[in-house]
Amino acid sequence: MIPLKRRKVVPSAAGNTGNTGSEEPLPQQFPQVVLFLLERKMGASRRAFLSQLGGKKGFQVEELFSERVTHVICENNSGDEVSAWLQSGVGGRGRASAHLLDVCWFTESMRAGRPVEILERHKLQQQTEEVEAATFSTPSYACQRRTGLENHNAGLTGALSLLAENAELSGEDGRGVAFRRAAAVLKALPGPVTAATQLQGLPGLGGHSLRVIKDVLDTGASAEVEATEQSERFRAMKVLTGIFGVGVKTAERWMRDGIHSLQQLRDSGRTLNRAQRAGLQHYQDLQLPVTRLQADAVAAILEEALEAVLPGARLTLIGGFRRGKLTGHDVDFLLTHPEEGREEGLMPKLVSRLEAQGFLLYQKTTRNSYLEAEGGPARPPSSMDRFERCFSVFQLAQEAGAAGAAAAAGAAGAAGATGAAGAAGAAGAAGATGAAGAAGLKPWRAVRVDLVVSPFSQFAFALLGWTGSKLFERELRRWASHEKTMSLSSHGLYHSAQSRYLRASSEEEIFAHLGLEYIPPSERNA
Ligand code: CTP
Ligand code: MN
Ligand code: MN
Repeated sequence: MIPLKRRKVVPSAAGNTGNTGSEEPLPQQFPQVVLFLLERKMGASRRAFLSQLGGKKGFQVEELFSERVTHVICENNSGDEVSAWLQSGVGGRGRASAHLLDVCWFTESMRAGRPVEILERHKLQQQTEEVEAATFSTPSYACQRRTGLENHNAGLTGALSLLAENAELSGEDGRGVAFRRAAAVLKALPGPVTAATQLQGLPGLGGHSLRVIKDVLDTGASAEVEATEQSERFRAMKVLTGIFGVGVKTAERWMRDGIHSLQQLRDSGRTLNRAQRAGLQHYQDLQLPVTRLQADAVAAILEEALEAVLPGARLTLIGGFRRGKLTGHDVDFLLTHPEEGREEGLMPKLVSRLEAQGFLLYQKTTRNSYLEAEGGPARPPSSMDRFERCFSVFQLAQEAGAAGAAAAAGAAGAAGATGAAGAAGAAGAAGATGAAGAAGLKPWRAVRVDLVVSPFSQFAFALLGWTGSKLFERELRRWASHEKTMSLSSHGLYHSAQSRYLRASSEEEIFAHLGLEYIPPSERNA
């Protein structure tokens, strides 16, 4: 694989440098220079040889590609090939400013016993001239990309997300999606953007988004973003729609009537619906992020209740927590039973048990109107899901440990005694709140919990559809319809050309049906 010529030439060049008279590595002499040798086309053995040589000459040579690397040494690769490799992120993430150099710079530096000045002929040939830093590239659809929780461009994505939020709060959903798409592209980049020129050719970056990006890169901030953030309208809309049960339309109506704050809303004497009353009452708690520990405590409560009302039923954490997020605005769960049909009627049973146990501050269950017919869901899927769902607000004992204990106490108390189950559970929930209550603290917090029940045959679709992120889901559906003439929902995948539903029992199968590489939940944080 390695051209014979190279094998001969370079070791002899390296031999010329062996004039230190010692095999001992020199102490690292050039702290500003951190080398990484790309194995691609160089080959493993030659890479090992050159790495060792570098070490002996007092150079820092990294085994793995990382942010530390300042000089990437390549052999027989074009600049574009190496840029593509770097951007793919397969070898790890590095800094965008790293020099991409031909091995000739390395051998000359070895010979000189120091890093030689980087001349034009040392640099890898890039197709585009005057590129200071590597340009990025990325596939068009978020569902083709891996987007972890870590983001190298948080300043930029934060600015774009704020504009997206503002558009959504203004009822301009199309503009909102455009900003979200732009933010998602930057989230997926393998390193920080330092110059707008690096973004040439990236998908999803419209004129408006690019202008904001340039402002932030040039001046550290965007005037538009700052003005939006400070604007009275944006702030008030955030407060009002931050109330559980209040959407953009309602908030706008209130704003027109001069209601801009919670106090003004309370004073206005408006009639609120049940959800809004709960939302206003528990406003402070519901603004607090839910921790993973609290999510697990809710899961424990639900497991116990499920065991009592439908043994064998399965509970799966979905939403942001399944994607590895450490906190969320709520906790989402998917429920099913491995015997198709057994899940019917589960939600009301579960909810009345939780209610009797005193765990629910609010709940609203919506009934399943989705008809299962021979061969697949009865109607072509739309993005409107028709599962049995429950939007709820849980009362969770403050210390997650205490909440777990409450669930356990409920389980012990309720075991076998159907009639007494409610009372025993309620005692469990109340019991856990005793100690903190005595100390004068509010012994519990309100937590938003979403529950969805799916028939087992649709479980994989529901799992994929409810894991998110919202943009990732949107992009999956866009991919299905635009690239595959298929229609994806949380119920199924319809192949329009073949006029049939494609079955799947795992997320992997659905990605395969869609002709997409499988992206695990932790990398769907678009
Ligand atoms: N979802 C949905 N229909 C809704 C609300 C949510 O299909 N009316 C889906 C979203 O597409 C997402 C999942 O439910 O896949 C979770 O939504 P949500 O809880 O709002 O977002 P998370 O990603 O869980 O974020 P957070 O951690 O803030 O809760
Ligand atoms: Mn969620
Ligand atoms: Mn949710």
